[in-house]
Amino acid sequence: MTLFNKYLILTSSQVLDTKDLQVFKVTVNGQDAKFVFGEKHSFKGTPLEITLPFELRRGQEAVVEISFESSPNSSALQWFSPEQTSGKKHPFLFSQCQATHCRAIFPCQDTPAVKLTYYAEISVPKELVALMSANRDGEMPDPDDSSRKIYQFSQNVPIPCYLIALVVGALESRKIGPRTLVWAEKELVDKSAYEFAEAEAMLKTAEDLAGPYVWGQYDLLVLPPSFPYGGMENPCLTFVTPTLLAGDRSLSNVIAHEISHSWTGNLVTNKTWEHFWLNEGHTVYLERRIGGRLFGEQFRHFQALGGWRELQNTINTLGDKNPVTNLTPNLEEVDPDVAYSSVPYEKGFALLFYLEQLLGGPDVFIGFLKAYVQQFAYKSIVTEDWKKFLYSYFKDKVDVLNKVDWNSWFHAPGMPPVKPTYDMTLANACVDLSQRWIK
Ligand code: BES
Ligand code: ZN
Repeated sequence: MTLFNKYLILTSSQVLDTKDLQVFKVTVNGQDAKFVFGEKHSFKGTPLEITLPFELRRGQEAVVEISFESSPNSSALQWFSPEQTSGKKHPFLFSQCQATHCRAIFPCQDTPAVKLTYYAEISVPKELVALMSANRDGEMPDPDDSSRKIYQFSQNVPIPCYLIALVVGALESRKIGPRTLVWAEKELVDKSAYEFAEAEAMLKTAEDLAGPYVWGQYDLLVLPPSFPYGGMENPCLTFVTPTLLAGDRSLSNVIAHEISHSWTGNLVTNKTWEHFWLNEGHTVYLERRIGGRLFGEQFRHFQALGGWRELQNTINTLGDKNPVTNLTPNLEEVDPDVAYSSVPYEKGFALLFYLEQLLGGPDVFIGFLKAYVQQFAYKSIVTEDWKKFLYSYFKDKVDVLNKVDWNSWFHAPGMPPVKPTYDMTLANACVDLSQRWIK
């Protein structure tokens, strides 16, 4: 794999994150550079310090080329033998970088505080297809090996490196919308095309709610069953689990969720993983607004109520004094994968749903959300940036905002200080039905 990106270098040396990588050679502007690994951290990996072979002048660009290899046990990569695939004939590879596994593919500044564009060339055996979280630029025979093909990709919108993604396999596609292909192994591709047919309607609704879709293509990729999440919002190419293939589109909220990340998460990004609720809370909020448009406001409230239940279950399991149940937890020396739970999703959503009700309802609140995306697009932010913007957007309602118990919402463990109001129509219909069954 060849990957080009630019780092911002401020001093005479540059430290990059790595995890289980071998590094063979480093050059800067073509000149050999000294490099040394630091001490290995239990989950963060090993820092790689590169010393510049010359002094940088102000404004001078430094192109760093690193020759490296990832490990077969890379925590970012799953490699499958042919027997482990649906088709049984060809091997398969996929990546999952969020939160901090990009460093287990290549040396990088592995923080969501930094954004980059990328261009990549991937050489694979001719029978296989490579896809990335980027637009597909083209393909050509590999000049060095006639049994191989090179795929070219570019992502021209600056992204945090946790959104870099790669898949290689015997993949086929079906067109399901003007900007959407669904990709899967042959055995699953038609079922997938049926399951995800609502994607374009959801994209249009999301654009109406949050602003223009800036990423060009929106493709979907169905992975093998060991894909560790329901969905992953890799730009231009959402990754999903095959367990979404229920046959009746009943899990399409996951697609609405990953589509929503095209604004909240991928345009406006949490600066550190302590502010992860900015990504996921806003995304669940948008996901449910899309559901509300497509299936009605009662359905949105029903989903919201399900989220409150989910939050109660999680807090019962983790304990209501557990510091990882804070909306903005302290993650110093905590692996973000270990802190992962539904709290940033559902406590984050509950806060936004509560604010929606406090500040004048859904029509008023979507104005804030759209302005927030516009204000912070292409940036990485913390909760304080969000809160300041909320106060400035609702400058006529500062009295109302000052009644919010911010300290408990953000810094206390356990359930939120207040419960929003939920329309109970659909939930009551479920309870009535269960009563009839019992009788
Ligand atoms: N970005 C997340 C998945 C993720 C989070 C991966 C943190 C690695 C670290 C994705 O958007 C997500 O939230 N997926 C949910 C789907 C759901 C809430 C509809 C999942 O997989 O459960
Ligand atoms: Zn998400």
